[in-house]
Amino acid sequence: MPKPRVLDLPPSPAALIQSLRDIGYSIETAVADLIDNSLFATSSEIDVRFSWNAGQPWLAIADDGHGMHEDELIAAMRFGSKSPLERRSPADLGRFGLGMKTASFSQCRHLTVLSRKAGVQSCCEWDLDTIAANTDHEWSLGVLGPGEVARRPVLSLLASKYLDKRESGTVVLWEKIDRIDRDISVERQEAVFNKLLADVRKHLELVFHRYLSPDRGHKGTRILMNEDPLAAFDPFNFRCATTVELPEEQFLCEGERVSVQPYVLPHHNKVSQDEYKKFAGISGYRDSQGFYVYRNKRLIIRGTWFRLIPKDELTKLLRVRIDIPNTLDHLWRIDVKKATAFPPESIATELRRIIAKIEISGKKVYRQRGAKIGDSAVVPAWQRRASGGTVHYEINRDHPLLESIQSSLPDQQANTLDELMSLIERSFPSDAFFHDFASAPEQIERPVYDEKSLIPLLDIIVTAWGGYSGLNGENISDLLGTEPFCHSRELTTKILSSKGARLD
Ligand SMILES: Nc1ncnc2c1ncn2[C@@H]1O[C@H](COP(=O)(O)OP(=O)(O)OP(=O)(O)O)[C@@H](O)[C@H]1O
Ligand SMILES: [Mg+2]
Repeated sequence: MPKPRVLDLPPSPAALIQSLRDIGYSIETAVADLIDNSLFATSSEIDVRFSWNAGQPWLAIADDGHGMHEDELIAAMRFGSKSPLERRSPADLGRFGLGMKTASFSQCRHLTVLSRKAGVQSCCEWDLDTIAANTDHEWSLGVLGPGEVARRPVLSLLASKYLDKRESGTVVLWEKIDRIDRDISVERQEAVFNKLLADVRKHLELVFHRYLSPDRGHKGTRILMNEDPLAAFDPFNFRCATTVELPEEQFLCEGERVSVQPYVLPHHNKVSQDEYKKFAGISGYRDSQGFYVYRNKRLIIRGTWFRLIPKDELTKLLRVRIDIPNTLDHLWRIDVKKATAFPPESIATELRRIIAKIEISGKKVYRQRGAKIGDSAVVPAWQRRASGGTVHYEINRDHPLLESIQSSLPDQQANTLDELMSLIERSFPSDAFFHDFASAPEQIERPVYDEKSLIPLLDIIVTAWGGYSGLNGENISDLLGTEPFCHSRELTTKILSSKGARLD
């Protein structure tokens, strides 16, 4: 049989790289992708350096990892340096053999990698403009000798700061950063650049929090930005005493262990306003609920229920950590940016089962608060009535304050008072309240009763009961179980005693 003609048809480098620039990296995900490489190279310190450089901004990631020999570096510069099908070591954060190149070109047009291994330095560069100008469609990689490195001002500065005194390490340098809007004033451009890097910082503090603050017995990695160390941001607020850690679940998928650790974050009453806000994040609690998937302890996806359940107001404090190994990458459909992944059906089934169990715990935090209307006060001011699938709230007509006032009024006025209370109940602005409570519960003011506000209320009730000196033990215990006195028992007791009630 005649064989078909075979042609060698490599992709046009300029066109291919240009297309890869737009696969959806943000500067945050691009920097994180390079940090993955430094972490896998067993670095103990990684510094993200950047400078506006009078409108010629550059950014570099310098690590003290194991570095690369020249042949390794040349191989690493290739697009598709390793196949995703290749088996990787369990600690490898890479998968596609693309990240260093695609992440870099998503932000800049000139990538230089300078690496040192066993005291020997090697340097390679890709320049998009040179590649575009090359009409032969060749992948022309620049290989720089020590003299050329010394002639590049930024590169030589970074070499002497990070590599010359180290046995090994790598500097990845982005120049010709061109993702900043040039149609605005130069001052604004600089401000935008700095703001972007402040966002990068936050992103890294979250994505690598388990490297920055490792489990006991493990060595951490210092990550810095312009020499300023990052601080781990743990989205579960694990160190807070009022975060609830629910039982961990583990299951096997293709013989590999997946562990699922749910947490209920503290209700806003259990932490300071600042702390509550800090863990809300920019998108707020409701949006941040859900699964947080870690691949080799590196966060890849956050705050999603994978459409297994909706993001409900009542489950907004629920965040669930999932740990997956890199051997399950093919099932999760991890993308090059390490920013999206989807659970395969077998795992989704397990997750559905776990959600059904833990959803109740998340909701309990709120249900318990709702139930408090009747729980802490024996005689509440408001009552929650649930029947036939509907719920409504009503003012407690048996509250002694109301009873005292109503019994002191002529019938017609007592009826009017009852009408007024019905009006208050029916016109309660529940939509506005729900909105405020859902978006910023910590801003809702809770009434504080001091002596001045309690005395007139006590006077009305106690007068109707025959005066302070006539109170018996039962009256007093009723009062102390009645709202609002039940919330300020000590103060109420003090007032009663100062007014001549016998407390023994
Ligand atoms: N900082 C570094 N220190 C040592 N080796 C590195 C460093 N950065 C990259 N490498 C080497 O270069 C190779 C290519 O990196 P690249 O990020 O392009 O792909 P990857 O990490 O293998 O996979 P992925 O595309 O998923 O990131 C790596 O596999 C690693 O061997
Ligand atoms: Mg990589």
